[in-house]
Amino acid sequence: METVLVTGGTGHLGRDVVARLKPTHRVRVLARSPGSDPDVEWIRGDLATGEGIAAAVSGAQIVVHAATLSPAAKRGYLLPTDFWRSPPEVDVDGTRRLLEAADRAGVGHFAYVSIVGVDRARVPYMQVKHTAEELVRTGKVPWSILRATQFHWLTDRMLGKAARLPVVLLPTELRTQPADSGDFADHLVQRVADGPGGQCTDFGGPEVLTLGELLAQWQRIRGRRRRVLRVPVPSAVERAARDLTCPHGNRGTVTWADWLRTHPPE
Ligand SMILES: NC(=O)c1ccc[n+]([C@@H]2O[C@H](COP(=O)([O-])OP(=O)(O)OC[C@H]3O[C@@H](n4cnc5c(N)ncnc54)[C@H](OP(=O)(O)O)[C@@H]3O)[C@@H](O)[C@H]2O)c1
Repeated sequence: METVLVTGGTGHLGRDVVARLKPTHRVRVLARSPGSDPDVEWIRGDLATGEGIAAAVSGAQIVVHAATLSPAAKRGYLLPTDFWRSPPEVDVDGTRRLLEAADRAGVGHFAYVSIVGVDRARVPYMQVKHTAEELVRTGKVPWSILRATQFHWLTDRMLGKAARLPVVLLPTELRTQPADSGDFADHLVQRVADGPGGQCTDFGGPEVLTLGELLAQWQRIRGRRRRVLRVPVPSAVERAARDLTCPHGNRGTVTWADWLRTHPPE
């Protein structure tokens, strides 16, 4: 059995990945707050400081790097500062530390989780992810980069926050392709089994929807009735949103409506 280190193993995607790897691998998770699953080897650590990284990669053949720090995702809404700066401590500095340690430990496959369109997006968080991709691409450890479109859990969180106001302000025409993190975890685990694959084909959800359609389904299934005020956006923003979809990439199967019906609000 190979040993695989999963960073971000306590997060939404990481939990799905760990569950799928456990039957076939020895799974180790580097976490700031280790969990209690006895089938996982927990290593206390922090990518932002370097604590625990050497122990986490020691004896591992594979690293799945799914940890990230996105303040906007954590809070569920964007602030003006998100368009100015994104903290690099985990995604850039942490990735560099992890790559160096993985190289020293002789890791044979470094699978990095990224986002569809990071090479074109101008938002600082996406640029931070793109910088991390470059570190992986130019590093010494054989690698795969797997990009996904936005996960359902994040869309749900953001709409939940937006609907706290009596009127939801939304650029309703923007296109999006929300994906199930479980579907993507299935895809990722298959790529891990295939070995280092370089830049993998983008992965997206089964349908491309406008934000207006997305919100309408969310209101119906979550039983909400907020008024919607359409925010017009320049065509450059519409194009930028389109860059975050991948209608011709690999597709998951769990639709937005299916996911909402099976997941209560967090
Ligand atoms: N969310 C999306 O829509 C989306 C779409 C496409 C790709 N992705 C990518 O998928 C990956 C996983 O995202 P996710 O949605 O699962 O995010 P998430 O639920 O926010 O999970 C992030 C994980 O990173 C860990 N982490 C944060 N700071 C850390 C640190 N200093 N040291 C060690 N671990 C740290 C978190 O641990 P704690 O529990 O300690 O905070 C958590 O386990 C990321 O690479 C993300 O960019 C996400």
